Amino acid sequence: MSSEVREFKFTTGDFQRLARIVRETSGIALTPAKRDLVYSRLAKRVRAFGFKSFSQYADLLDSGDQAELVELTNAMTTNVTSFLRESYHFDHLCDEILPGLIAGRSSGQRIRIWSAACSTGEEPYSIALSALARVPNVAQHDFRILATDLDSQVVERGRNGVYEASSVEALPKEWQRRYFQRGRGSSSGRFRVKPEVRDLIAFKTLNLMQPWPVKGPFDAIFCRNVMIYFDDETRARLVERFRQLLKIGGFLFIGHSESLPAQVQGFEFMKRTTYRRAV
Ligand SMILES: C[S@@+](CC[C@H](N)C(=O)[O-])C[C@H]1O[C@@H](n2cnc3c(N)ncnc32)[C@H](O)[C@@H]1O
Repeated sequence: MSSEVREFKFTTGDFQRLARIVRETSGIALTPAKRDLVYSRLAKRVRAFGFKSFSQYADLLDSGDQAELVELTNAMTTNVTSFLRESYHFDHLCDEILPGLIAGRSSGQRIRIWSAACSTGEEPYSIALSALARVPNVAQHDFRILATDLDSQVVERGRNGVYEASSVEALPKEWQRRYFQRGRGSSSGRFRVKPEVRDLIAFKTLNLMQPWPVKGPFDAIFCRNVMIYFDDETRARLVERFRQLLKIGGFLFIGHSESLPAQVQGFEFMKRTTYRRAV
């Protein structure tokens, strides 16, 4: 779009400033080709504040307004997710990984999984539901999932565990019956995850680009469909931090269109977007 027909002034300098802020806040890399996208995604934020230019909006962000920094990241990413998305990961987890862990541990022992960009919770609930429904004896262990995301609003939705019938339909009927409460009256058409499943998951706000107040080690980490927004260097740093928090032999699951940068070491490839900490 040419700048003459634009509602707000948006210079190359403004774009570069916003790209820097986005990168520093969330790790998301915006190449110059994304300039029009940045304009179209952020114009509504500029309008919402009654600003005349993107530089005023950048001033607000540079003043450290945390809530708006999250809005900025939300505008640049998507929270799209679904139950049992990329279902082969849950098959691998439940058919091979968890049974192997359980066979080697006496009951009551710790099993920890981290869903590191959990969005509205479908990913960590898919882990919990698959484990409960498919892995004998998992409930006899100290099995817990940490679910984190940068966006506090999606984290809150995950914590509530209320979903539209249309998204719960992706799950087997038997799981819907066993693990969800069907809404009535004004909640009709919605399903709420039962407390026995919700209690397995701790939802927290966490920015992957900042220090992580989390206690490892983890048996598995899911970091799916977020690294696609980062450049290779950021991705490599992130994966190295995951490596340090995984047990030796622990698993890293990444998104279907993602790969580990060439400079990453210490992982062996298992199968389809699944890696294992080797050292
Ligand atoms: C497309 S969703 C992926 C959800 C889920 N992992 C899946 O694969 O279905 C991407 C999520 O990454 C989150 N995100 C983006 N940048 C982040 C960061 N720096 N730290 C933590 N989460 C981030 C977004 O808020 C969004 O919820």
